Amino acid sequence: MELKNQVALVTGGSNGIGKEVARQLVNAGAVVYITGRNEERLNAAAAETKATGVLSDVSVQKDIDHIVSTIMENEGRLDILINNAGFGAGWAEIGNLNMEDMLRVYQTNVFGAAMMGQAAASIFKDQKSGNIVNIGSTASLKGYAKGSIYASSKFALRGLSQCWQADLRPYNVRVMHVNPSEVTTAFGKTDGLPRDEVANKLRPKEIADQILSQLRIDNRGFVPEVTIWATNPW
Ligand SMILES: NC(=O)c1ccc[n+]([C@@H]2O[C@H](COP(=O)([O-])OP(=O)(O)OC[C@H]3O[C@@H](n4cnc5c(N)ncnc54)[C@H](OP(=O)(O)O)[C@@H]3O)[C@@H](O)[C@H]2O)c1
Repeated sequence: MELKNQVALVTGGSNGIGKEVARQLVNAGAVVYITGRNEERLNAAAAETKATGVLSDVSVQKDIDHIVSTIMENEGRLDILINNAGFGAGWAEIGNLNMEDMLRVYQTNVFGAAMMGQAAASIFKDQKSGNIVNIGSTASLKGYAKGSIYASSKFALRGLSQCWQADLRPYNVRVMHVNPSEVTTAFGKTDGLPRDEVANKLRPKEIADQILSQLRIDNRGFVPEVTIWATNPW
């Protein structure tokens, strides 16, 4: 697919992986919208990437409606959803799980992603074209100690990706699930500041390079799921 003039929405495009995907899509000639909850970071990312920022929280339905109506009023179409907004919290062994943390993480990583996907899918079904890229994680594939809340949320997102592939292929809509392993971003930090790059760990660039290469494949084909590892992260 030619990315020039495609209309793309990157949720959580105000930082980390989403911001790099937005930057690369803009550089490829796409019209890009990014979202995030922190206004200062969103405005800074919009200025840096030349994307349009829409202050919003994907865990809130009226915010999802606002994002979609803004894009449809301005552009009249949507071609790409990068369903990226997400975070981890409540790291604890079974026995110490906390319902509040579980709901908070699921509200964004699962319910928000699902409702954002639903809003995009209804546009894509009418258009008979569209692309959804769900940002999973290697935690979508394998659980680990203290990962109950985050890993199960990403397993759920992987399940959604597979269901949507079955639902949406008849409409020529491509659904792709991308599983990054550790990427040096602000993930897991509370100050929103990205971690320093580490030579042997993944950067947002590797994830964005992969996503754009998948989007560039001709519309008659798609990669349903991909996992990206650092070569030697130890
Ligand atoms: N970094 C890793 O090692 C890694 C590995 C595998 C998968 N992932 C996944 O990659 C995605 C991006 O993470 P990242 O590493 O780039 O982290 P990041 O740098 O912390 O970026 C997360 C982005 O999501 C936004 N966000 C979070 N909750 C949101 C909500 N409810 N509504 C709207 N925006 C929201 C954040 O902005 P605000 O806080 O301002 O809303 C921020 O822009 C996540 O889904 C994460 O689970 C990350």
